[in-house]
Amino acid sequence: MTDPTRQIDPPPRLLMGPGPINADPRVLRAMSAQLVGQFDPAMTAYMNETMALYRAVFRTENEHTLLVDGTSRAGIEAALVSLIEPGDRVLVPVFGRFGHLLVEIAERCGAEVHTLEVPWGEVFAAEQIEAAVAATRPRVLAVVQGDTSTTMCQPLADLSEICRRHDVLLYCDATASLGGNELATDAWGLDLVTAGLQKCLGGPSGSAPTTISPRAAAVIEGRRHVEAGIREDGEQGRGTRIASNYLDLAQVMDYWGPRRLNHHTEATTMLYGARECARLLLEEGLEAAVARHALHGRAMLAGVQGLGLRVFGDLAHKMHNVVAVEIPDGVGDDRTRAALLEDFGIEIGTSFGPLHGRVWRIGTMGVNARRDAVLTTLAALEQVLRGAGVAVTPGGGVGAAREVYA
Ligand SMILES: Cc1ncc(COP(=O)(O)O)c(C=O)c1O
Repeated sequence: MTDPTRQIDPPPRLLMGPGPINADPRVLRAMSAQLVGQFDPAMTAYMNETMALYRAVFRTENEHTLLVDGTSRAGIEAALVSLIEPGDRVLVPVFGRFGHLLVEIAERCGAEVHTLEVPWGEVFAAEQIEAAVAATRPRVLAVVQGDTSTTMCQPLADLSEICRRHDVLLYCDATASLGGNELATDAWGLDLVTAGLQKCLGGPSGSAPTTISPRAAAVIEGRRHVEAGIREDGEQGRGTRIASNYLDLAQVMDYWGPRRLNHHTEATTMLYGARECARLLLEEGLEAAVARHALHGRAMLAGVQGLGLRVFGDLAHKMHNVVAVEIPDGVGDDRTRAALLEDFGIEIGTSFGPLHGRVWRIGTMGVNARRDAVLTTLAALEQVLRGAGVAVTPGGGVGAAREVYA
């Protein structure tokens, strides 16, 4: 029922899909604060604070740690369009939908893209990636950490050494993993990492926290072309101009840096939200937050298995915050999810590509990585599946999850 004369009043939902998830109430409160001008000292102080907070979140000393305005995909696109020059070779290990997205964006940047693939549900061994790096000699290795389409988490720690040895820039999409799985930008030698708020960080989509190593920043600065109207007298462009204006990290870095280049108008409300997401995570502690996601992810996994359902993929490499559950024969993907939503107000996720119609994706992330959300979802899923005639183990889901908590 829609009625545009009424103020928005969304139905109560428990979002237990692969993201977006419910925003933490503290984030929503921060986002209801009044606006200030973009160069108000209060605003520039918030920007600097946000940079410092995200340095801690990304575990980096990178000066250029900032927000790209837009959803996570804007962060990915900003990273790739700013690093890649037409004709550059880029290597993408693809283990799910978001690897394909990196390929698609790199191609649009004019790169000569090489891929290596494993079946969905698996990750790569470092040796496989090294062999492909040696064979293709790319300028950029672009990799997803946690691919929500398959729930897999690619180990990254060994890639930095490979990239240094072969003089390759290492880009990582940590949208789905940051905050709920370990990520150590500096220790793992990641040159550019982008993320989003709507997964483990407990915020809405619309802001892409990004960190840029000095090595990547030097490449990007080598392509700085400040737009006419705001460039200084006599200021010359350098290198190949970055093909996007909005996502031009050279200008965005200058907006967030001491120059305060008047590039775009910062999305103030999103910045308030992103700042609060980082504060929440750091107050909890990075390790404690990862441990919480691991615990509730384990409980959800045990719960669906306790119902007698099968799970998809290599469990040794599953992200903590999402599980793919094979859809039992005879129940429709859409019908089950609709019943969960209508009867219980709970959303779980469908899936893409080869997994479409084969698995549901159930998330335990951000503010929803908590016991009552896990137990309620399992209880509701049991009821819906029993109603559809599936022989699930009565009480087996909640029971198995409670054992994990015990
Ligand atoms: C790993 C990964 N990368 C990128 C994206 C795209 O994010 P957005 O929809 O915020 O642009 C997602 C969203 O699910 C994701 O899981």
